Amino acid sequence: MRGYQSDSYGERFADTYDEFFSEFTPSQHQIELLRKLAAGGHAVEIGVGTGRVALPLARAGVQVVGIDTSGEMLDRLARKATGLPVRMVHGDVNDIDADSLVGASLVYVVFNTFFMIAGTDAQVTCLRRVREMLADDGALVIEVFVPRPERFVNGQDIRIKRLTVNEVVLQVSQHHPTDQRVDSQDVVLRHGDPVELFPTQVHYHHPDQLDALAERCGFTLEARHAGWAGELFDATSGTHVSVYRAARVKEANTWA
Ligand SMILES: C[S@@+](CC[C@H](N)C(=O)[O-])C[C@H]1O[C@@H](n2cnc3c(N)ncnc32)[C@H](O)[C@@H]1O
Repeated sequence: MRGYQSDSYGERFADTYDEFFSEFTPSQHQIELLRKLAAGGHAVEIGVGTGRVALPLARAGVQVVGIDTSGEMLDRLARKATGLPVRMVHGDVNDIDADSLVGASLVYVVFNTFFMIAGTDAQVTCLRRVREMLADDGALVIEVFVPRPERFVNGQDIRIKRLTVNEVVLQVSQHHPTDQRVDSQDVVLRHGDPVELFPTQVHYHHPDQLDALAERCGFTLEARHAGWAGELFDATSGTHVSVYRAARVKEANTWA
């Protein structure tokens, strides 16, 4: 998508992010799993946004360092984080000085954010940086969608995300199969208001491809589920929550 940069998403979404995704409040299962994996240490969230997950996790007693390339998103987070153990780091995850983040017991990247990192090379760099940040027995959690490229007809797709008497939100997407990339615009049409456009670019990987990237960077898959409550992951799952360990997989059952 011509003109798209790593902070385009945040710049455009920041003002409305919380309202736009208001139905995606993290479940108690999600916060409890992340709290358990943080195991009393500090957690790093890559692409923390306005703190949808970081804030409830901090309220549950976990120190969170949130990295984000968008200053606008971090401004919103800062306003809500007063008194909570949340530190913000502004920049692309692959450009920031990560020395002060070393020793994290948990790094997590949720809500498809890993796919927003600009391409396979950048994702590999990111995983290598995560490996450096994590304590040896630390955990990496990635939550992403399961790609269904067959949904695109002639490389295109339009779907209705919201439909009310006064508002239509359409997601208009273009698929670039060679790059495993999808460029999308959420087009908001509100009666009487100017049209608004919210761009997103994702570089997707199938679960086995993601595992191969992680393995290249020293991680082993410990557990994969279709949701935060430990739902069974199978061929019909639309999303997955995957837990990787830097160290060898132990007997531990993440969801036990
Ligand atoms: C889909 S939002 C998710 C926000 C938050 N994690 C949540 O679950 O609500 C993705 C966030 O990642 C940030 N982001 C995208 N690419 C990034 C990168 N390379 N480095 C750091 N942050 C990035 C965006 O600015 C945006 O705030």
